[in-house]
Amino acid sequence: MSQQQPSFERDIRPLFRPKDVEAMSKAFDLSAYQDVRDNADRIYQALANGVMPCDGAWTSEQTGAFHAWMEAGYPR
Ligand code: HEM
Repeated sequence: MSQQQPSFERDIRPLFRPKDVEAMSKAFDLSAYQDVRDNADRIYQALANGVMPCDGAWTSEQTGAFHAWMEAGYPR
């Protein structure tokens, strides 16, 4: 069975809570495709290191989904 191509709108955008978008709005817009794409490396580093979100790290499944989206070339 073929692997479904990751999508920002379907798989990544829903991972960011309103409080995440609010907290990080001065640095970048987590609800906007282009902003997340442009800052993907440092966003992924902060997630993978567990330093962000500030109120508790993502699961490995969630960070894995973000990494797979990066590896797939940041599909919309
Ligand atoms: C999935 C959600 C989040 C992501 C991906 C994220 C990502 C990041 C990144 C990449 C930085 C470094 C910014 C830089 O290099 O300029 C950062 C800094 C920061 N974040 Fe978040 N963040 C998230 C959620 C939150 C939440 C929920 C809070 C608190 C309510 C928060 C508070 C902060 C603060 C205070 C800083 C600046 C201080 C620092 O560098 O430690 N973030 N975040």
